[in-house]
Amino acid sequence: METVCKIVDSNVNSQLNYTQAVDILNAGEVVAFPTETVYGLGAVATNDYAVKKIFEAKGRPSDNPLIVHIGTKEEVELYIENIPEVAMKCMDLFWPGPLTLVMPVKPNVLAKSVTAGLNTVGIRMPDHPVALALLHHIKKPLAAPSANRSGKPSPTEAIHVKDDLQGYIPYILDGGSTGIGLESTVLDVTHEPPVILRPGGITKEMLEEAIGPVIQPTTIEQHMESTPKAPGMKYTHYAPNAPVYLIHCDKKKVEQAIQQLHSQGHKVALLAPESFVNISVDYYFSIGVAANKEEMGAALYHALRACDKTQATLILATTTSTEGVGAAIMNRLEKAAGGKWYIT
Ligand code: TXA
Ligand code: MG
Repeated sequence: METVCKIVDSNVNSQLNYTQAVDILNAGEVVAFPTETVYGLGAVATNDYAVKKIFEAKGRPSDNPLIVHIGTKEEVELYIENIPEVAMKCMDLFWPGPLTLVMPVKPNVLAKSVTAGLNTVGIRMPDHPVALALLHHIKKPLAAPSANRSGKPSPTEAIHVKDDLQGYIPYILDGGSTGIGLESTVLDVTHEPPVILRPGGITKEMLEEAIGPVIQPTTIEQHMESTPKAPGMKYTHYAPNAPVYLIHCDKKKVEQAIQQLHSQGHKVALLAPESFVNISVDYYFSIGVAANKEEMGAALYHALRACDKTQATLILATTTSTEGVGAAIMNRLEKAAGGKWYIT
């Protein structure tokens, strides 16, 4: 299959590109598009045949449900049974934006494979001009997971989508780099208090200020039977080819680790804040200023993907605190590392 990639921004007349994307979607095919978090791979959420193509293109297990994207807040009522009060508040405050709300789904309104057989669905209204324009043009809900091959870091640029899915999908709308760079916060509002199934750009602190206490399980707690989870959390995620090890953000420790690894014949890639720029290592990828967690979040997947373009045999990634967006960064790093720490 030929993959066409079209740039859409305010400098070009994008009308034709949107028309083409809508025609392809209405014909039951998939289209990749940017959101404010990461690129999504969209299909019409009411067309089971189309939604199945997302799973095929990504190599995604069919028991992992998809997020439904809508273009207006009002549409929620079409798909959700009894919208919880806390969900209303969250929509008012955080939509459009990087917050997915898991709510009870109305029967037979969305394609079966969207919800993977669950009686809930995750919905969000993205805050990106291209995603919103596409939704406004098509006037239908779009099911869209991140537009990467299953297991890989989510794409934050159209070139990442191409690297993973060229030949598997017909069309990519290229809207440049996504802003946040980490997937949306997934909040399950069917529980009391609500549970953060996946931390993201809307932080626990922001949610609690709006709706009171919310539960944010640690990665370890998420593996316990008693905690509600996002089905996707059990799969390997965000992983480059070489193994990733976490290490404390301490220059001496990192230098020592690199020396040890070199003596074992390793070529090392280091993901660390920009203050590590002078460290002697085979490959170094900056994740920005340590104090600026938003900047780290935006740089993380690009850096993880960049490791695959090197000869590194091992990746060291420095950790950060779990305050604010730090919770999302550490969640993704722990998954990329499969929980492994480098111990000197
Ligand atoms: O920022 C994002 O959310 C991006 C962009 C494209 O919108 N999308 C995204 O989708 O990250 P995906 O499919 O890669 O991640 C969806 C996550 C998975 O962990 C999935 O298990 C969880 O949300 N999820 C979806 N529906 C759910 C449900 N009904 N109950 C529990 N978890 C659900
Ligand atoms: Mg994903």
